[in-house]
Amino acid sequence: MNSSANSSAPDRPIAVIGGTGPAGTGLALRWARAGETVIIGSRDAIRAQQAASAIQQKLGGQANISGMENSEACAAADILMLTVPFEGQAALLKQLKPAITPGSILIDATVPLAASVGGRASRMLGVWQGSAAQQAAELVPKEVSVVAAFHNVSADRLNGDAPLDCDVIVCSDDPDAAQLTRELAARIPGVRAIDGGKLENARIIEQITALLIGLNIRHKGHAGIRITGLPPTAYR
Ligand SMILES: NC(=O)c1ccc[n+]([C@@H]2O[C@H](COP(=O)([O-])OP(=O)(O)OC[C@H]3O[C@@H](n4cnc5c(N)ncnc54)[C@H](OP(=O)(O)O)[C@@H]3O)[C@@H](O)[C@H]2O)c1
Repeated sequence: MNSSANSSAPDRPIAVIGGTGPAGTGLALRWARAGETVIIGSRDAIRAQQAASAIQQKLGGQANISGMENSEACAAADILMLTVPFEGQAALLKQLKPAITPGSILIDATVPLAASVGGRASRMLGVWQGSAAQQAAELVPKEVSVVAAFHNVSADRLNGDAPLDCDVIVCSDDPDAAQLTRELAARIPGVRAIDGGKLENARIIEQITALLIGLNIRHKGHAGIRITGLPPTAYR
């Protein structure tokens, strides 16, 4: 991780790769509202700019937000938030690899849902590496730290105005990258960030999303998770 990355630096951009979908726009909205500099990435620069304009309008013109084609967004930031469907993750990371700056961190929220291959959204695919996040770690340059986070947050809630009622479990093999991600998660009102240990634990966090989707279908809601019983120092 680039040691200059610091959550108190408002001009340190966060590039949301695949940021035109509900998960990406929701995170971009929350971070822009918190004063972070955000770049929406898309395969299409115009689509990215339109998504950025929509958020700018929502925030009354006060946000530091722009839109770029994904590889330009990667080149312009050293914090990358990946919000693409599992079926696009590997090919996109292979394509973006040359544009990712060594020392960057890549936060991955990809859930390998069976829906990616025509199955149910409440079922998971097996991923050879163990999880989508571990697959991402194999595909980025080796000087890039991968963090798994935000899988269990409802995009519908992220795109609203109310504080969330959800914890974000953060997993990474790089403690500094994990800490920065927990700081970014905690910038979203209502979110508590929790250290979830090594990146291999992403396989469990990703699976929880399939359960939440099933609960949402059954009960018609927007479920999130809360972890109880830890000492206050465990929550950021
Ligand atoms: N939705 C949720 O509540 C939620 C919550 C937590 C985690 N997640 C996970 O976060 C990821 C994004 O979720 P989402 O609902 O926002 O997904 P989405 O709307 O299906 O896709 C997000 C964006 O990814 C880009 N994209 C789509 N297919 C692609 C491909 N084959 N290759 C490259 N880019 C592609 C598209 O942007 P462009 O066409 O503009 O490039 C799209 O707007 C998923 O892995 C999901 O499982 C979702």
